[in-house]
Amino acid sequence: VPDITHHFIYPLHLTGIVIVDHQVFADDHVPDRLVHRERAVGTLSRALEPALHDQPPEDLLIHGPHGVGKTVLVRHTFERLEAKADVDYVYVRSMGRSAAGIIRAVLRHMGANPATNTPLEDLCLRLRERMTRPTVVVLDEGDDLPATALRRLGDVDLVGVIPIVHDADAWLSATEPAVRRRFRSAQLGLDPYDAEELADILDPRAEQGLRGSVDRSYLEYIGQRAEGAARTAIQTLRAAAHLADPELPIERVNVDAAYHQALSRIRRANLRSLPLHHHVVYEIVRAAGDDGVGPGTFHDAYDRVSDVVYQGREATPLSKRDRRRKLAKLDEYELIDQAENRHDTHKACDTSITSEFVDLAAAVDVPDER
Ligand SMILES: Nc1ncnc2c1ncn2[C@@H]1O[C@H](COP(=O)(O)OP(=O)(O)OP(=O)(O)O)[C@@H](O)[C@H]1O
Ligand SMILES: [Mg+2]
Repeated sequence: VPDITHHFIYPLHLTGIVIVDHQVFADDHVPDRLVHRERAVGTLSRALEPALHDQPPEDLLIHGPHGVGKTVLVRHTFERLEAKADVDYVYVRSMGRSAAGIIRAVLRHMGANPATNTPLEDLCLRLRERMTRPTVVVLDEGDDLPATALRRLGDVDLVGVIPIVHDADAWLSATEPAVRRRFRSAQLGLDPYDAEELADILDPRAEQGLRGSVDRSYLEYIGQRAEGAARTAIQTLRAAAHLADPELPIERVNVDAAYHQALSRIRRANLRSLPLHHHVVYEIVRAAGDDGVGPGTFHDAYDRVSDVVYQGREATPLSKRDRRRKLAKLDEYELIDQAENRHDTHKACDTSITSEFVDLAAAVDVPDER
């Protein structure tokens, strides 16, 4: 049956662009084809191959910068594997999780529901009991993975572990020697895309998600602006479609303007994806405005608000060292510029981006009223 609804809503005489399928611009959209990643799909598939013969899959460390398709690579490859083999796929977003938190997440996936205060030892025991078929445990967002979690999962028969990180060298040098040995020669690195490749990634999305055509050269132009990251390219195309005048071709939209809108959206999503601690740290820096806040003043502010912010929560206030690690993470996510020395200041990149979870004004107000 031909879908004529679009024609009623968007009269045919309009020449411009309209988004007709928002899902293809969503970050978790898994495209039918993973273009320009054939070799990576091959490497990952080979690591999983033993699972087809009831053997544990091989460990593999996947690494590469933001938005180059690490997460979608594992999703895409597993969807295909699951269809033809009796293999279990456990996906864990590991950022901010303790070793016990990670094992618990794996157990939950397997249908168990351990209490939050179950000791790590018991969790591992239950995991071994339940593990009856080859299982791949993907530990996404694993930059700060506790080595204990990797060691414990490594002890379980039939399990293969796939951590996903940004910087493999930094990750390897920060972890335990035994973990380092396991992953040193089991790595899959994803490089940034070039502008042509990004245009190839954008093309099917434009086709499926937009009504109206987009010049190839415009897609390449977006590709250049995105500097290697598919996420940035996709969100820039989406923003361009939003900004377009429905009566004019999309190519009239300034790529720079679309890019900046995309960047802001990506930063918001990045902030949303971070655990509570990062929100507290971010809001303290953001509250300082465009002047920023010096490291000493930052710590004072943190100490001042932490009693109230963490009240009644599982999380407890951070040590100074851990605060610096959260600042570094926020810097890496391009949410702040971290101070380079004690005379420098921490500054929010875009003070219009606010946390949805932490309202410092409310937190700071409370002690004054008490
Ligand atoms: N080769 C590709 N073909 C089609 N789409 C792609 C490709 N590579 C990436 N994408 C898309 O780009 C977006 C970003 O990819 P993904 O989320 O996998 O990045 P990532 O490397 O995991 O980033 P981060 O490190 O920030 O988690 C997703 O929407 C994904 O579908
Ligand atoms: Mg990812």
